[in-house]
Amino acid sequence: MEFLKEALSHPKFTLLRGDLYFGDDLSNVFVGVDAVFHLAANADVRFGPDHPARDLEQNTIATHKVLEAVRKAGVKKFMFSSTGSVYGEAKVVPTPEDAPFPIQTSLYGASKLACEGLIAAYAESFGIKAWIFRFVSILGPRYTHGHVYDFYQQLLKHPEKLVVLGNGYQKKSYLHVSDCVEAIHKSISKSTDLVNIFNLGVDGYCEVRDSIGWITEEMGLNPELVFGTESKGWIGDNPLIHLNTTKIESMGWKPRFTIEEAVRDTVRFLSSNPDLFSQVSRNETI
Ligand SMILES: NC(=O)c1ccc[n+]([C@@H]2O[C@H](COP(=O)([O-])OP(=O)(O)OC[C@H]3O[C@@H](n4cnc5c(N)ncnc54)[C@H](O)[C@@H]3O)[C@@H](O)[C@H]2O)c1
Repeated sequence: MEFLKEALSHPKFTLLRGDLYFGDDLSNVFVGVDAVFHLAANADVRFGPDHPARDLEQNTIATHKVLEAVRKAGVKKFMFSSTGSVYGEAKVVPTPEDAPFPIQTSLYGASKLACEGLIAAYAESFGIKAWIFRFVSILGPRYTHGHVYDFYQQLLKHPEKLVVLGNGYQKKSYLHVSDCVEAIHKSISKSTDLVNIFNLGVDGYCEVRDSIGWITEEMGLNPELVFGTESKGWIGDNPLIHLNTTKIESMGWKPRFTIEEAVRDTVRFLSSNPDLFSQVSRNETI
């Protein structure tokens, strides 16, 4: 099948719809294109061990297919959504882009790191300028998966009780989607290297317990909180995420939303979009 091209509100951008892994035909879709933003992925971290091939297929192999189509079409700019998960349980916190080569703790992170390797090699081999963005978890409008979604959904079903994976002291960083988009724009206009790697996050973190406080307050609830005993909620859950964002800030970018504002904005988005909860529950991403 051919990829479908869908116009977006910005006249310069087109959204492609199709299946990257099961072989929809990418051969001509990038001809005449200036830049490709590759965002499609399996973004579930938590259930990686239940599907050991999925991250490899939907992330690494799919990314290789996109890179090949980009190369063949002569596209010279490639942007990629990686993740802070590539740092595993980082030894250096706040974690900079050039942190010591990390031990991988999730199939998702490993598959994204493999993508990063391919992208850098394609950049060097074929003169494609590349941007690799390592996001923390993204919050805000159009949010469909992650801890705020899961907690909100639980509280809709049973407002008197919230079950939390892990002991609630996990320290996590979050970025509002509008700040994420602005950071991407800023970095693209100012980067000069062939391969440009950026952490995208806020300079700080909150504990899961803080986030629960903001979510329940926004919902006007005071549930019984049932915590686990472990410092991690699941395999690959990183108990401390705090990325060093000096590099993107040196380009003149600053986030406008604090973590608290981003969490509260997400709850308000979920409250005004009840249809989202007829969909199947998704999982934590980063
Ligand atoms: N949301 C976050 O907190 C976060 C954090 C770090 C990185 N990221 C990365 O940002 C990107 C976007 O994340 P998101 O949260 O919007 O995820 P999402 O799951 O909402 O969107 C990913 C999209 O990719 C599509 N997709 C998956 N496999 C595909 C394939 N083989 N062919 C075509 N399409 C395919 C899915 O159908 C989905 O529409 C992903 O690359 C994700 O890994 C997200």
